[in-house]
Amino acid sequence: MIIAVDGPTASGKGTIAKALAAHFGLPHLDTGLLYRAVGRQVFLDGGDPDDAGDALAACSFPDGLLADPHLRDEATGGLASRVSIHPVVRTALFDRQRIFATQAGGAVLDGRDIGTVIAPEAEVKLFVTASVEARAERRFREMQERGSNSTLADIAGNLRRRDERDSQRAVAPLVPADDARVIDTSELGRDEAIAAAVEVVEACLRETGPEGA
Ligand code: DC
Repeated sequence: MIIAVDGPTASGKGTIAKALAAHFGLPHLDTGLLYRAVGRQVFLDGGDPDDAGDALAACSFPDGLLADPHLRDEATGGLASRVSIHPVVRTALFDRQRIFATQAGGAVLDGRDIGTVIAPEAEVKLFVTASVEARAERRFREMQERGSNSTLADIAGNLRRRDERDSQRAVAPLVPADDARVIDTSELGRDEAIAAAVEVVEACLRETGPEGA
């Protein structure tokens, strides 16, 4: 069974994807991390994230970079959003995601285009979303815990810019697949959001029958 979890930044999709993977005993890939690694590698190379050639060169980042704590920084998220616009970057990262998605036994992947591009055949497609205010508040608390001094207004501004860029790019924009089930986590706590997602997956399994699993 492939479970695709798409949605904007700080919607709770990563938390939900991890929890679904644990619940259903499936491996999990956070595909945003791949784009973050490309963004970080462009920065380390002194390249220009808006230049397709520089961004493509950064796609050969070493695997060790995936463990770099800087990948979680707000600045790296912005670079990731910029490099992810280039079709050559999306193509370069496609196989890695596709191979993960189609491994025997199934997988959970979270990102922006899993249900639309990477695994359109996924048995379960979730689109996890929340208001900008709720997402900014969450990201703000997370950043404070990490000792960052970004303000709530800065974070909300960054989220809006990234949403706009991610939703309006020409290739693989952030849009729910036609057959995705939408979960709005604005008013849900962590456990409630996870419970809602588990319920949606179980409902999908009941509809498709055991051969969907
Ligand atoms: O989910 P995230 O915040 O870690 O993603 C960082 C950026 O990477 C996001 O702004 C857009 C890009 N991204 C993408 O284009 N496609 C994906 N499947 C995952 C992330």
